[in-house]
Amino acid sequence: MTTITKEQPTPAQAPDGGPLLQASGVIMRFGGLTAVRDVDLTVNSGEIVGLIGPNGAGKTTFFNCLTGLYVPTEGTVSYRGEILPPKPHLVTQAGVARTFQNIRLFSNMTVLENVLVGRHTRTREGLLSALIRGPRYHKAEARSRERAMEILEFIGLADKADHLSRNLPYGEQRKLEIARALASEPGLLLLDEPTAGMNPQETRATEELVFAIRDQGIAVLVIEHDMRFIFNLCDRVAVLVQGEKLVEGTSDIVQQDERVIAAYLGEPFEGAPADEGDAAVEQAEAGFGAEAEAEAGAGTRAEAGADAGIAADDAGEEQENDR
Ligand SMILES: Nc1ncnc2c1ncn2[C@@H]1O[C@H](COP(=O)(O)OP(=O)(O)O)[C@@H](O)[C@H]1O
Ligand SMILES: [Mg+2]
Repeated sequence: MTTITKEQPTPAQAPDGGPLLQASGVIMRFGGLTAVRDVDLTVNSGEIVGLIGPNGAGKTTFFNCLTGLYVPTEGTVSYRGEILPPKPHLVTQAGVARTFQNIRLFSNMTVLENVLVGRHTRTREGLLSALIRGPRYHKAEARSRERAMEILEFIGLADKADHLSRNLPYGEQRKLEIARALASEPGLLLLDEPTAGMNPQETRATEELVFAIRDQGIAVLVIEHDMRFIFNLCDRVAVLVQGEKLVEGTSDIVQQDERVIAAYLGEPFEGAPADEGDAAVEQAEAGFGAEAEAEAGAGTRAEAGADAGIAADDAGEEQENDR
């Protein structure tokens, strides 16, 4: 991470605009199970918003509704005032990018190639142009590589551009996922448990990275179980419990809320470092953090490929890394 300043902007400085993402009355049912119940959520430009709640609360399902992987049973999702089409690649094209709870990289591709895959929604060169490989194609490709390298510099992976992604340590694979999402030049980035499986140092570095992303003008909506991470980072936090939005407010309000304490935290969050054994963090992590795999199953692997714009078959085996 080259352009990251140590000084963290205060939340009060952050919001600088109107609604970017607006989800209204989102309901998602799977047969008899209602995973998301009438959830409204707004992310304004310049904001970092947190989404927390116990495992199985519907957080990932809600993300899937926002990003076109699922078509909500009811409700609407709009971005910059326009209803988002229920197709992942169109949502990415509209300016909303995401990472997944389980890492989804193309393991046999290099770090740089993974980022280039993320750029495809922003490059206009069509198949014909790619086949002919004329000057326009070469120019566009050179520009893409240049931009992908800039993003890798920013993320701190430029020196590993030629490494196969499967050879990266786990924390760097998570960073690479963020780099790939950034490559689509989003206005809003959705992160699903970006620090899962990271050590405390990596988690703190990710915190700085998210601030740096926001400072580049990209709003962030983040799901996370690490309460220190969430409460340090977020301008606003929404709490989902059993598919319903229980509470929403500033970090200060949410961490003292009796209902949140009862349903999720266990006791008020005091902000002690997680590695020094904060009781609330430990409770939250012990009770809910070790993620029982609740994602949608077989279908999503192919969909991730489609989301990235190429079939997994064409790009080498896609890697899902559960940790
Ligand atoms: N594709 C699906 N089909 C059926 N049930 C699902 C599907 N996806 C999620 N669920 C269920 O929805 C609920 C919420 O899951 P999820 O959104 O993964 O929770 P969280 O991310 O908050 O841990 C769980 O009960 C889960 O089993
Ligand atoms: Mg989840």
